[in-house]
Amino acid sequence: MRRTAIGIFDSGVGGLSVLREVRRLLPGEDLVYFADQANVPYGHRPLKQVRHFSEEITRFLAARGAKAVVVACNTASGAALYHLREVFPAVPFVGLEPAVKPAAQRSRAKVIGVIATEGTFQGELFSRVVERFAGDVRVLTAACPGLVELIEAGAVDSPATRSLLERCLAPLLAEGIDSLVLGCTHYPFARAAIESIAGPRVCVVDPAPAVALQVERVLAERRLLGHQEQPGRVAYWTSGEPAQLRRALAALLGEDAPVAPASWVNGRLSAAGWNNGS
Ligand code: DGL
Repeated sequence: MRRTAIGIFDSGVGGLSVLREVRRLLPGEDLVYFADQANVPYGHRPLKQVRHFSEEITRFLAARGAKAVVVACNTASGAALYHLREVFPAVPFVGLEPAVKPAAQRSRAKVIGVIATEGTFQGELFSRVVERFAGDVRVLTAACPGLVELIEAGAVDSPATRSLLERCLAPLLAEGIDSLVLGCTHYPFARAAIESIAGPRVCVVDPAPAVALQVERVLAERRLLGHQEQPGRVAYWTSGEPAQLRRALAALLGEDAPVAPASWVNGRLSAAGWNNGS
């Protein structure tokens, strides 16, 4: 099969914050997006299970023409990126890691905050990033349990979302953070609420634009950049309810696009049959 598309996956809608930036930077590329909404959230799952999901999803995307795979999920990147590179040596991967480096560089107070899932904080990647880039900067963390579920449900700025964020951010703000890293790809969709709670002194850092640049670099290095003049196509897949992802696409990206169903059977992922109405 000809591999011509960029595969992107997440546990749910979070990876759409990365897809949006990839599409902005590389509008001629075809994309295949997979949301594992049958298993969302990943954040509290054992890392081993997330690794298994990630491996299967990579196979699924490769079978649908992915020439490279963006692990648009901090939790899955922390749990599986090294493993994926070993299992699929021919596939270029771009993963997500909390943007501690730029936040630490711009922090004057030398205190930064990171919000991410429990799984991300447990993964090796996070401790490596802090060790490498935080230096003399204090890194305060908050896991925000429940935020991913609210964003999946479309509540990006509801009273419940705000009160959860206020609770999570209060200890970080009390310590005087001046940068806040969005260490979960779902969180950029709640950015307006986060910024209004954090206030103007705190710079909110979303790594998605830098990830898109990295995707471009990786494809260029491997001579895999597409040269289409016309806008690329995007195929959306979910292991959850296609109508739900379709509503999320409209709400989060202002896009009306069909979504195809996929299903997990005995630990294997396969297409569940196209349903055009979804
Ligand atoms: N969007 C994901 C991340 O970046 C996954 C969140 C979850 O499923 O718990 O971590």
